[in-house]
Amino acid sequence: MKINLSVKIGKIKLKNPVMTASGTFGYAEEFNDFINLKRLGAIVTKTVTLKPHIGNLPARTCETPSGMLNSIGLENPGLEVFLKSKLPFLKKLNIPVIMSIASIGSPEEFIELAKRLNKVSAVDALELNISCPNIIGEKTLISQECEATYKTVSSVRKATNKTLITKLSPNVTCISDIAKAAQSAGSDAIALINTLSGMSIDIEKRAPKLKAVTGGLSGPAIRPVALKMVWEAYNNIKIPIIGMGGIMDTPSALEFLIAGATAISIGTANFINPKATIEIIDGLSEYLKRKKIKSAEELTGSLSHEK
Ligand code: SIN
Repeated sequence: MKINLSVKIGKIKLKNPVMTASGTFGYAEEFNDFINLKRLGAIVTKTVTLKPHIGNLPARTCETPSGMLNSIGLENPGLEVFLKSKLPFLKKLNIPVIMSIASIGSPEEFIELAKRLNKVSAVDALELNISCPNIIGEKTLISQECEATYKTVSSVRKATNKTLITKLSPNVTCISDIAKAAQSAGSDAIALINTLSGMSIDIEKRAPKLKAVTGGLSGPAIRPVALKMVWEAYNNIKIPIIGMGGIMDTPSALEFLIAGATAISIGTANFINPKATIEIIDGLSEYLKRKKIKSAEELTGSLSHEK
């Protein structure tokens, strides 16, 4: 039986629904010795800002039960270095490149980034990171308010013709309201969830394990929360959802597709098993064959439950 794993997100066609989650895969070259990168549905880069950014002071990561906390603080080399020294490698892979972008300080930076990238053909889509919980001094994230989400997404929408994906925070009261705001502002898709805010304490020192005190929790610990948010968003918006949050293997990837995701991103799993993405691509094919389902698209939102 011939299986069709391909899916569409905005204008881009992915040969399978498996992507990397921003910040867990560097700029892909780091994983070149471990997997055949050309097999991925798409690559999402570590978030890039207009200017280089040093990020937060260490310690910036720590392990937690079934998860990890990070407070990297958007460390990145900035747009110019990304374009000169990271993008050429990504371009050669011939798979969709989704560039994660963020602004530090002024939301105008998003517009400037979007305008400049609109002319860069090797970038297929932009992922608007309005949900990083690790920027010191930023009390409210853009994606924690419907109005701010709408305003930011619509101004970026005007600045780019590229496929626009908006990455949302789970640290909100009602995810579907925020998802609807991004949809009405012209986002082509929603990525969810970014990390959940959390903290961890070294009881001997009576000090936080992270220098920034708080960070973002990822890994299997957050999976049920992420899954519920994907399901809620799926029931309230029409644009595709890229689901993520603790996907470690094929069964957990399938949960997200069944809940309503069109594609999925693998994050923390990459740190434990660098081959996780490829194993999941193969696992999805096997599952579809076993269930006699012809395409990955048929799985999206196929949850069966009595209302
Ligand atoms: C970070 O760089 O702090 C993580 C990025 C994110 O959570 O969006």
